[in-house]
Amino acid sequence: MTVNEQLLAYAEQLFAPEDAALHEIRALPEREGLPDIAVSPDEGKILAVLLTAIGARRVLEIGTLAGYSGVWMARALSAGGMLTTIEADPKHAAAARRAFERAGVAHRVQLIEGRALEVLPTLRPGYDAVFVDADKEPLEQYYRQAMRLLRRGGLLLCDNAFFNGRVTDPRDTAADVEGVRAFNRLAASDARLAAAVIPVRDGLVVGVKVAE
Ligand code: SAH
Ligand code: DHB
Ligand code: MG
Repeated sequence: MTVNEQLLAYAEQLFAPEDAALHEIRALPEREGLPDIAVSPDEGKILAVLLTAIGARRVLEIGTLAGYSGVWMARALSAGGMLTTIEADPKHAAAARRAFERAGVAHRVQLIEGRALEVLPTLRPGYDAVFVDADKEPLEQYYRQAMRLLRRGGLLLCDNAFFNGRVTDPRDTAADVEGVRAFNRLAASDARLAAAVIPVRDGLVVGVKVAE
């Protein structure tokens, strides 16, 4: 038996039900013209379970959008935890601030408005997990920054490992596809990381930083 849409829907309904706050964030793209590219409920739940497993307190997200993945992760932080999330688009950041309030996690979220490549070098190491989910062209630089910022034993998480199937099309050499390929190659071959891909939605890279 291989997985199919029906089985995925069954598992998602059982394991990743949304409350009203999460459901409303998911409805925003249609209402407010935001891109419809948030993680799915089942992917959100996987992120939450992984953070719970390591007792995460300091988590960094690159690419907030309207806060959908952020709410899943903020709710999974252990006591006193903080999600720092970076967003370049002011309209997305404003929607996310509202969502974090609505979901009751605003006190656990620090939203930094700015471009990731400018913000990341200003952050200090010690993160328990870094979730990379922004623009794809700079992914090699996001990889290096994430590895710098992660503590030993911390989780490197990255969305869109498959990039809608484009990673395996040899004729597709667009800069964003090459960025995804570069990230995947680094994650797969870096001796400091033990990594795999969970084939949920568009592919989620999960790695543990095993050495400095
Ligand atoms: N993690 C979100 C989805 C993020 S979509 C969720 O699952 O709910 C990608 C987001 O990254 C968009 O909101 C986009 O505006 C933002 N982004 C794109 N390039 C960026 C950059 N260079 N720096 C910071 N944010 C960026
Ligand atoms: C795209 C980006 C994402 O982060 C995502 O989850 C889906 C699509 C995109 O750039 O096409
Ligand atoms: Mg994504």
